[in-house]
Amino acid sequence: MADRELPAPSRSAAAVAVCASADLADGGDGVRFDLLQELGKRRSRAVGFVVRFQGRVRGYLNECRHVPSELDWQAGRFFDRDGLYLICATHGAMYRPGDGFCIQGPCAGQSLVALTVEERDGQVYWIPDSRFSPVEPSTP
Ligand code: FES
Repeated sequence: MADRELPAPSRSAAAVAVCASADLADGGDGVRFDLLQELGKRRSRAVGFVVRFQGRVRGYLNECRHVPSELDWQAGRFFDRDGLYLICATHGAMYRPGDGFCIQGPCAGQSLVALTVEERDGQVYWIPDSRFSPVEPSTP
């Protein structure tokens, strides 16, 4: 086989499949995924995540604006108990799920870094851009 095939539907154009739509309940657990963050001339591994809120899928870099640590207190647990806010496990900053704006906590007034995501045909995709790129498959 000359060309390396990607398992359908893992990629469509520049989109990277993250999870099935059914994996995201409204206000429920999110799905994490690895990515590479472009930092000038170097790249750093980072984590993104997607959640569903009020029916729409949102994606953010999994990094609190107070201290660059991941938000989820257990993998994929981003929402508070009521499913209304994304909450940082470290010091409790509360972010609006719809736009990532921090309404309470040490980084109030700042916003999570939003990722471009889309949902179609029962699948959630992340769209890489100049800031973030997919993690290349490991090479033997
Ligand atoms: S690291 Fe998130 S609130 Fe402090």
